[in-house]
Amino acid sequence: MTSQTLREARKYEEAFEKTIKKEERPEIHLTPRTGWMNDPNGFSWYKGQYHMFYQYYPYESKWGPMHWGHAVSRDLLHWEYLPAALAPDEFYDMDGCFSGSAIELPDGRQMLMYTGVSKEHKNYGPNMDVLQTQCIAIGDGMDYEKYEQNPVLDGEDLPEGGSRADFRDPKIWRKRDGTYCCIIGNRPADGSGQILLYTSEDGFHWKYKSVLVSNFNRFGKMWECPDLFELNGKWVLLTSPQDMLPEGFEYHNGNGTLCLIGDFDEDAGVFKEMHNQSVDYGIDFYAPQTVLTPDGRRVMIGWMQNWDSCGIRSREEPWFGQMSLPRELFVKNNRLYQMPIKELDAMRHNRVEYTGVTVAETVWLDGIKGRKLDMELTIRPGDPQELYQKFAVRFAQNERYHTSLSFRPRESILKIDRKFSGSRRASIHQRRSLVNMVDGELKLRIILDRFSVEVFVNDGEQVLSATMYTDQEADRVSFFADGTVNMDVVTYELLHFTVIQDQI
Ligand code: FRU
Repeated sequence: MTSQTLREARKYEEAFEKTIKKEERPEIHLTPRTGWMNDPNGFSWYKGQYHMFYQYYPYESKWGPMHWGHAVSRDLLHWEYLPAALAPDEFYDMDGCFSGSAIELPDGRQMLMYTGVSKEHKNYGPNMDVLQTQCIAIGDGMDYEKYEQNPVLDGEDLPEGGSRADFRDPKIWRKRDGTYCCIIGNRPADGSGQILLYTSEDGFHWKYKSVLVSNFNRFGKMWECPDLFELNGKWVLLTSPQDMLPEGFEYHNGNGTLCLIGDFDEDAGVFKEMHNQSVDYGIDFYAPQTVLTPDGRRVMIGWMQNWDSCGIRSREEPWFGQMSLPRELFVKNNRLYQMPIKELDAMRHNRVEYTGVTVAETVWLDGIKGRKLDMELTIRPGDPQELYQKFAVRFAQNERYHTSLSFRPRESILKIDRKFSGSRRASIHQRRSLVNMVDGELKLRIILDRFSVEVFVNDGEQVLSATMYTDQEADRVSFFADGTVNMDVVTYELLHFTVIQDQI
């Protein structure tokens, strides 16, 4: 039975979606059908398609009582909206259906596990306590029914000292032996973060097993949105800590995403961490989820936004929040590598290539422009006697605006700067990242969609993501060097297949 709250949300989104023109959205990055979007939820492969749900408030472009929006895709780049999947309509999720995940049950139904948020009166006084519990909904890929015995995990299922107010974002998976595991973010008594592990025989009845990993106040405070998977012979734990302190060139985002690489002792239920790093070195990236594709690739999508700079976009706009590009993950040299999924290759058209261009001062190259652009750059010193001071590429550019990526080889620092992207807010606009030069060369793949830039450094060794809401007429690209740089550049326009067909 669909509740009145969900029916209203579905009616609203269907009507208001029509007021948003296609050109007002990114081409290949998923945005909310209407209103507000944050975390990806329930990212999964089900009945021949990828499903992406998302934290959703359809009625305004600001965070509100959370629903789950829903979209499907065959290539992770072209998305089709489905009706909202969940609404806050039960006593245990009245204040929001928070983040969670999805799996297919052996009988073919899809199971969503999410965090229900409600407020309870404290000692019968006026103060309210937040209560976060884990809940289930079962469906067919379109409509979902909340389980009558919800919540399936609550405050009683926490280890001693675990906070009932910060207990959220279940990531569920089914093991080879047919049983189920689930990891959930929580806050222990030290005010820090921890990830808890739960097990189940049938997916409905859950038992606490262990603390998978503890923060001990090292990486921020509360750990949100955990994900755990095996990749290239290692185990990878992703989580998004709140309130991080920067360390050297790591963890500059306040709320950012942490990657721990190590081993997972399944019997003990303990993750042994060996290496840690930021997942994204740009400005906007948080709360990613991963999916295992039918051909065995581990693909990650994050919310391409920083909580601290949401004010960059006016609340009057009809949508807020974008997902990142889907990125295939690899573990190499004990680091997490990310590359845009290979499906993107099918959208690359109108190749333009220049090799061995000498850049000294500003250079404009014929045919290189656009706001839906996939650009590969290799730069190297142009003068063997004298290393250049700085190289920069500027894009989303006209007389008034630009966003830039600049590299200072002496410090090996790459900087993204959207100060002049048209933002009228004094929020974070720059981020610097320490990168590696390989044999004196730096390789960059820069992907622009209408309202974002994602930079893949040295074949995915590092990634920098940022949103930018610059006027679409600002579409020029230029290159600059202080000193002499030798550069190869290849660009492609990113186009939907249907657009190409229309032109024929
Ligand atoms: C992360 C997060 C999650 C929570 C959701 C609420 O961005 O705070 O922990 O489930 O957003 O919208």
